[in-house]
Amino acid sequence: VIDIRKLYAQTGVFTYDPGFTSTASCESKITYIDGDEGVLLHRGYPINQLAEQSSFMEVCYLLLNGELPKQDELASFTRTISRHTMLHEQLTTFLRGFRRDAHPMAIMCGIVGALSAFYHDSTDITDVQQRMIASHRLIAKMPTIAAMAYKYSVGQPILYPDNSLSYSANFLRMTFGVPAEPYEVDPAVERAMDRIFILHADHEQNASTSTVRLAGSSGANPFACIAAGIACLWGPAHGGANEAALNMLREIGTPDRIPHYIERAKDKNDPFRLMGFGHRVYKNYDPRATVMQKTVREVFSALKVTDPVFEVALQLEEMALNDPYFIEKKLFPNVDFYSGVILSAIGFPTSMFTALFALARTVGWIAQWNEMITDPDQKIGRPRQLYTGPTQRDYVPIDRR
Ligand code: ACO
Repeated sequence: VIDIRKLYAQTGVFTYDPGFTSTASCESKITYIDGDEGVLLHRGYPINQLAEQSSFMEVCYLLLNGELPKQDELASFTRTISRHTMLHEQLTTFLRGFRRDAHPMAIMCGIVGALSAFYHDSTDITDVQQRMIASHRLIAKMPTIAAMAYKYSVGQPILYPDNSLSYSANFLRMTFGVPAEPYEVDPAVERAMDRIFILHADHEQNASTSTVRLAGSSGANPFACIAAGIACLWGPAHGGANEAALNMLREIGTPDRIPHYIERAKDKNDPFRLMGFGHRVYKNYDPRATVMQKTVREVFSALKVTDPVFEVALQLEEMALNDPYFIEKKLFPNVDFYSGVILSAIGFPTSMFTALFALARTVGWIAQWNEMITDPDQKIGRPRQLYTGPTQRDYVPIDRR
C-alpha cells in the first residue's frame, strides 16, 4: 500500500506523470513546438523557412549559438567543422571488431561512446572552449562514422572525408563513392540530404534529447551523453520509426491492401500501429512531414525515378486522415512517414535510416547539452517514483519459503 500522505508530508508536492506527458523537465530557448497548430520554430525561425532557404551548417550554427550566422561567421564555422571530420585512425581498428552484419546504430553507439577515449581534452565539461570543441567534433565526425558503418556492412573500403565538399555532399561521397573512381554528387540530392538533416536537427525534449540531458546532468562527458541519445533514438517508437514506416509501406505493397492495415491499426487487440503516424506533441500535421513529402517529388524528378510505395503512402495518408479513428485521436503523418521513401530513392538501405537521423540530431542533442550545462538551475536529473511493491516484511530463510 502506498502511503501517499507520507510522500506529501516529505515533499510538499508529488506528481505522478508517466512518460512526462505534462511535466517540463527543463527551461529551454532552443526549439518551440505548438503541437495543436503544427508549428515548429528553431530559435524563433519556422522550420519550413529553414528547410527551404538555409543550409544544415547554418542551422547547426543557429542551434548552437542562438542567432543566424553572418557570411564570415558561417564561413569560419564551416571551416571549423571541416577541420574535425577525420577520425582517429585507431577507431577503424575498433570498427573491425564489429560483426559485418552489425546494425549501423550499434556501431554508432559504440564508436561515439568510444570517442571519449580518444579526445580526452574534450571531456573537460567545465571549460567552455572545450565544450564547443566537443560540439564541433561530434557534428563533424558523425557523417564519417555513419558512412564508415555503411561501408563496413557492404564490405567496401572506407573513404576519408573530402573537405572541399559541403557537409552533405561529403557524406554522400563517403557513403556511395568508391576509391579511384570519381563520384559526382547530384546537386538536387545534395540539397535533399541537407534538407533532411535540417528537418531532423532538433525537436526539443523528445526521448533521446531528454536522455542526453539526463545523462549529462550527472556530469558525464559529451561523447558518452550523445552515445546514450543514439541508444534511445534507436527504438521503433522514436527514430527507428522511419525504418519501420518504409518496411510497413513495402509490406502493404499496393493501395488495395491499405484498408486492411487501417483496420489493423484501429484494432485494440492487435499491437500493430501505423508507423510514421501520431506524435506525442503534434495533434495536427507535423510541419516536417509537409516539407518531406514535397522533397520526395523533387528527388524523384531529379533522379528520374519513382517508387510505388510513395503512391501507397499518399493514399494511406488520405484514407487515415478521413477515418473517424484517426480524426478523433488526432493522428497525422510525422517526420518519419515520408523520409524513408526519399532515403531509399537516394540509395540508402533501411538499416541506415535511423543512423542518418542520429547524424542530424547530434547538433540538437549537443546544443541542448550545452544549454543544460550552463543553466544555473541545473540539478542532477532524478525522477521520483510511485512505489507499488510490497510493504516492509521479514526475511524468510530459504528452507522455510
Ligand atoms: N496507429 C494507430 N493508433 C495509434 C497510433 C498509430 N500510429 N499512434 C497512437 N495511436 C493511438 C493509441 O493506440 C492510443 O489509443 P487509445 O487512446 O485508444 O489507447 C492513442 O492513439 C494515443 O496513443 P499513445 O501511444 O498513448 O500516444 P503517445 O503520445 O504516447 O505516443 C507515438 C506517440 C509513440 C509517436 C505513437 O503515436 C506511435 O507509436 N506512433 C507510431 C511510431 C512512430 O511513428 N514514431 C515516430 C514518432 S516521431 C519521432 O520520434 C521522430
